[in-house]
Amino acid sequence: MNSFFITGTDTDVGKTYVTAGIAAALKKQGKDVGIMKPFAAGTPQNTGYKSEDVQILSKAAQVNDPEKLVNPYFFLIPASPFTAAKNFGIKIDIKMVLSCFKQLSSLHEILLVEGIGGAMTPILQNYFVTNLIKDMNLETIIVTSSKIGTVNHTLMTCKICQYYKIKIRGIIINNLNLNGYSMDVLTRDLEELTKIEVIGSIPYFEKFNLEQLSKTIINEFDSLFQ
Ligand SMILES: Nc1ncnc2c1ncn2[C@@H]1O[C@H](COP(=O)(O)OP(=O)(O)OP(=O)(O)O)[C@@H](O)[C@H]1O
Ligand SMILES: [Mg+2]
Repeated sequence: MNSFFITGTDTDVGKTYVTAGIAAALKKQGKDVGIMKPFAAGTPQNTGYKSEDVQILSKAAQVNDPEKLVNPYFFLIPASPFTAAKNFGIKIDIKMVLSCFKQLSSLHEILLVEGIGGAMTPILQNYFVTNLIKDMNLETIIVTSSKIGTVNHTLMTCKICQYYKIKIRGIIINNLNLNGYSMDVLTRDLEELTKIEVIGSIPYFEKFNLEQLSKTIINEFDSLFQ
């Protein structure tokens, strides 16, 4: 399996869930997998890494890489890197982020990079998550939910990735909204509309369960591991 950039149709769509599940699945298969969350935002945690996402991902991949490599930018407000950097008077150094990416890539067989927000989340003026994916030269996996409205968001995300000439490995549907689309209908329609493979879907979990999540991914996402 290659390294991937995991983006989504929106914030809170399940990028961390999916990335953690794939990382744990790869560990089960004896692979050396690293994780990166170049930009994170929100309330810092007291223990371990500042970002909860980085904490979850590091645990799933069973890695202990330095925070400054795994998460070079952590912002104390839930906002895009562009907005947060402006608010705090910080200058974002993309070269430094790409250098961290290169170092982590050399440390691990496979690297999973979780984005922030969606594909067009701004990082700098005229530099978005799409530009970062392109600069990292990674294929992307698009995480989408089952919420009504997701077809629109998924199509827009696919179109913008194609505009930036990013290779899309596939779509993963996270069944977050139990009263939204059924998995069968959404899979059928997204595949027909985008001509992109829906790799699989993740069920709703009452409580985060990495063991169950990684088992689902191994059993149902076989195309991903070929
Ligand atoms: N399959 C699922 N079943 C139940 N809860 C889920 C599922 N997937 C995600 N969640 C919950 O939904 C919320 C958002 O998920 P997650 O943090 O993975 O999204 P994200 O896209 O990584 O968000 P962010 O943009 O903040 O990085 C979390 O509280 C998570 O626990
Ligand atoms: Mg996340």
